[in-house]
Amino acid sequence: MTADSKLISEIQKLKKDRKAVILAHNYQLPEVQDIADFLGDSLGLSREASKTDAKVIVFCGVYFMAETANILSPEKTVLLPDLSSGCPMAEMINAKELRTLKAAHPGHLVVTYVNSSAEVKAETDYCCTSGNALKIVEKLKNEKIIFVPDKYLGAWISGRLNKKMVLWHGYCPTHAKILPEHIAAAKNKHPGAPVMVHPECRNDVWPLADEVCSTEGFLRFAKSNIAKEFIVATEPGMLYRLAKENPGKSFYPANAEAICPNMKKNTLEKVLWALQDMKNIVRVPEDIRLKAKRAIDRMVAIT
Ligand code: 13P
Ligand code: SF4
Repeated sequence: MTADSKLISEIQKLKKDRKAVILAHNYQLPEVQDIADFLGDSLGLSREASKTDAKVIVFCGVYFMAETANILSPEKTVLLPDLSSGCPMAEMINAKELRTLKAAHPGHLVVTYVNSSAEVKAETDYCCTSGNALKIVEKLKNEKIIFVPDKYLGAWISGRLNKKMVLWHGYCPTHAKILPEHIAAAKNKHPGAPVMVHPECRNDVWPLADEVCSTEGFLRFAKSNIAKEFIVATEPGMLYRLAKENPGKSFYPANAEAICPNMKKNTLEKVLWALQDMKNIVRVPEDIRLKAKRAIDRMVAIT
């Protein structure tokens, strides 16, 4: 028995004993993706967190994702194997800054990307993910909107809908490492390969895309497209699932160095320790949870 297979069988046994489910984001380490009961993007993971009948959710993702699971399912225990796995973009705005922004723009609705803290969601009218942001803002087209924290996702929606919005200056430091020259070099090497781009990428990268979508959208696009080679402009953790679910197709990262260090912090050992000790519980204070949930519920009602 290898070290990994021993770890995996211990995790499986404890998972049963604890009535736990393992949810993992598409950027997690391959071995963590392999033990997940459900793999997905932020939207899919939050849907799964709200409908599972497990007692414990082991959330292999980053902090705001585990918070979202707790907001939606307060009766379940949510464990984050590495509690320090934050999202730098989510930390680029806090509740006080959002209150100041709201005061400066009276009469505006606040649409907040799910990559944000529970406190910021609590100050929000509508939450959105990269998978539904366009749809949410389209529904609100007659409203004045503040969009936080991602300036690139906000600008992409603005451009697509031809709608001005007040934007915050947040961004994803990982996606910002993908540059137009990386796409040009990948296209040179793989002529004819469609380019899939995450909307967290810079505004000079989306015009080079054949498809701009969430991580789950990448899977749908790759499955339905007849091409055999694809260029992937997002965190390279995405490549593992793309290759696994699309035998015979090849996927090339636009920039293999655009790695999200936080997404790689959850290891098999940490999953096991969290389950053994029932530690690293993520719980949002009830007053904040209830306010944040309103914004998520409004998102769900639209989509
Ligand atoms: P998705 O919802 O598209 O998976 O994106 C989450 C994320 O953090 C991307 O950086
Ligand atoms: Fe946050 Fe970017 Fe990492 Fe996604 S890839 S979790 S947005 S830092």
